[in-house]
Amino acid sequence: MTETTHVARGRIVLTGAAGSLARDIIPYLRDRGYEVLCLDQAEPADPMGCEWVIASIQDRDRLREAFAGCAAVVHLAGIPLEASWEEIARTNIDGTESVLEAARAVGVPKAVLASSIHAAGFTPVPHRGETLPDDVPARPNTFYGVSKAAVEALGSLYADRHGMDVVCLRIASRFSTPQNERMLSTWLSPADAGRLFDAALSNAAGGFRIVWGVSRNTRSYFSREGGRSIGFHPEDDAEAYAHDLPADAAGAAQGSEWDQRCIGGVFCSPEPPMFSRQA
Ligand SMILES: NC(=O)c1ccc[n+]([C@@H]2O[C@H](COP(=O)([O-])OP(=O)(O)OC[C@H]3O[C@@H](n4cnc5c(N)ncnc54)[C@H](O)[C@@H]3O)[C@@H](O)[C@H]2O)c1
Repeated sequence: MTETTHVARGRIVLTGAAGSLARDIIPYLRDRGYEVLCLDQAEPADPMGCEWVIASIQDRDRLREAFAGCAAVVHLAGIPLEASWEEIARTNIDGTESVLEAARAVGVPKAVLASSIHAAGFTPVPHRGETLPDDVPARPNTFYGVSKAAVEALGSLYADRHGMDVVCLRIASRFSTPQNERMLSTWLSPADAGRLFDAALSNAAGGFRIVWGVSRNTRSYFSREGGRSIGFHPEDDAEAYAHDLPADAAGAAQGSEWDQRCIGGVFCSPEPPMFSRQA
């Protein structure tokens, strides 16, 4: 197994803390000794016992103030589905630059960035028995996917130019349970999401790396090398839910043809899932 070094768990700041992924990982991180400062432009439904800063990631002054003294920033804030180029560019690309620049300015040494499988969504599903490396080249399927490729590029820049320790997590399908046949390969369970972020935060190997965010699914076609290199050891397997999928999930469900062709599934179709503020 690859050697990993771990740093002490201290005060971290987490953007997008009112979102659904954050609700899975914050309690997990707190249980493991992190002090989590939460930042979001929206008020949280549940503050989860944390200190909160209500601010936009566009507000550079507030970011620098909030980030000062933190050991790491976990950056989740963003638009998580397809949207107009203007919205995606402003929130996901400009917003990530704003977060990394604030972290650099106040000396935060580490950043864990939420990337996505859709940064490489048009990558063909590999043949049985083959796996895709964590850093398979970007092949975005949407403006959203382009923004996640840009998140990775920004992370690489801040690692190389400024010596920041940056881990980009290519999260696949983070749901409470697998929703369709594709997710028997791509699922990331809530508990494994907690393990993934804990590993990314506590590993002190430094530099820049890209790691798949996927559970240890029997049908996974993702390399686990990057995960091992940061000490991420997923425990859940989507196969346990294979018999519970709705009858139409394996066949007629929207996007099944795309699911078989490309790792980004229905996001590769002419009508990818769109972000809605009401959703
Ligand atoms: N959930 C998944 O399966 C998945 C998969 C791949 C990648 N991701 C990424 O993980 C991150 C979190 O996803 P999620 O599912 O929790 O999305 P979400 O929409 O539930 O949460 C996003 C949060 O970001 C906040 N936000 C948006 N713009 C902001 C701004 N300008 N300033 C401050 N806060 C802002 C929102 O208020 C929201 O609370 C996103 O970057 C997403 O692209 C998620």
